[in-house]
Amino acid sequence: MYINPHFAATERVFPEQGRYAYSRYDMNENPEGLPEDFVESVKNKITPEFLATYPEPGRFAEKYARFVGVEPANIMTTNGSDMAIRYLLETFGEPGSDVVTVAPSFEMYRINCSLLGLNHVPVSYNDDLSFDTQKIVEAIHSGVSVVSVLNPNNPIGNVFSADEVETIIRKANSVGALVILDEAYHYFHDVTFLPFIKKYDNVVVLRTFSKCFSIAGCRLGVIIGPESIMRMAVRGRLTFDVNSIALLFGEALLDAPHILERLIAMEKEGKAYLISELEEKGYSYMGGAGNYIFIQPKTSPKELEQRLKDEHKMLVKTFGHPLLSKYVRVSTGSVTSMDFFLKAFFAADIF
Ligand SMILES: Cc1ncc(COP(=O)(O)O)c(C=O)c1O
Repeated sequence: MYINPHFAATERVFPEQGRYAYSRYDMNENPEGLPEDFVESVKNKITPEFLATYPEPGRFAEKYARFVGVEPANIMTTNGSDMAIRYLLETFGEPGSDVVTVAPSFEMYRINCSLLGLNHVPVSYNDDLSFDTQKIVEAIHSGVSVVSVLNPNNPIGNVFSADEVETIIRKANSVGALVILDEAYHYFHDVTFLPFIKKYDNVVVLRTFSKCFSIAGCRLGVIIGPESIMRMAVRGRLTFDVNSIALLFGEALLDAPHILERLIAMEKEGKAYLISELEEKGYSYMGGAGNYIFIQPKTSPKELEQRLKDEHKMLVKTFGHPLLSKYVRVSTGSVTSMDFFLKAFFAADIF
């Protein structure tokens, strides 16, 4: 039996199951989710006819285009931005070519490169977790087909300036490479590089409804880019990629901008509270441009992670990467959810 050798060579580790039983501060979701009454009002629109009918992403795409100030032809909906990354690498990643990303970064860039026979070129952070943009620029040459920049980056919550990003875009443009600007954490960090899609024809922006919009379970992502790029990106798309329930919730959220404003304000307030409590107790932390923060615990991060899980039914994330091994990463949310986290964290961080 034939097995695609790239698939055979790619090891996968899927997220842990059974997370509903825990308080979830490990995957940059909203720990509490959307307001109950809003979810109820949307659920009421789910009828047997609605469920029996194939999804139509057109109306959502039109609304979303208006929401971000582009044309519908600049939009493509995807089954989470996870799928957007796959589509873009399939369409614009020339087999055998290099794909440049910062490292550490969101794992799915590396994994999709491995699955698709692309050569992932990780450009590392410095030991003090600062990043030298010039190193990305230098990694871009004629054998590079795609460059990805995450702003803010995940896991390290640093941000790039518009000048730094434009320098990367120009260099990529000179060698005919696509630049993916992954803005999964937009709205927590309000700077966007969306204007670059009107200035350069080798740039796309990725957005997701999993983070600030708080519907990770629905799977809704969006690629925003110049028409010339979108015309090609759409060719590999599964016919019914995004499901109707995701589109329904996505539309309802766009129709209720006060919900988004409230989500942004609550997370900001919660993060400020978390930081002030940590500072008061003398903890070091870093990042914070997205809905997550790295805290340096007094005890071993792995032990603390296990203790929080076993004794407090709470999930946080630790990393094997040497640059991150002394931290735990914690998703941020409202003051209430941060208070709940801190009580467990302070109780568990004993040494
Ligand atoms: C930077 C970044 N991009 C993309 C994603 C994928 O998000 P989703 O597939 O839920 O839209 C994530 C998820 O954590 C992320 O951190």
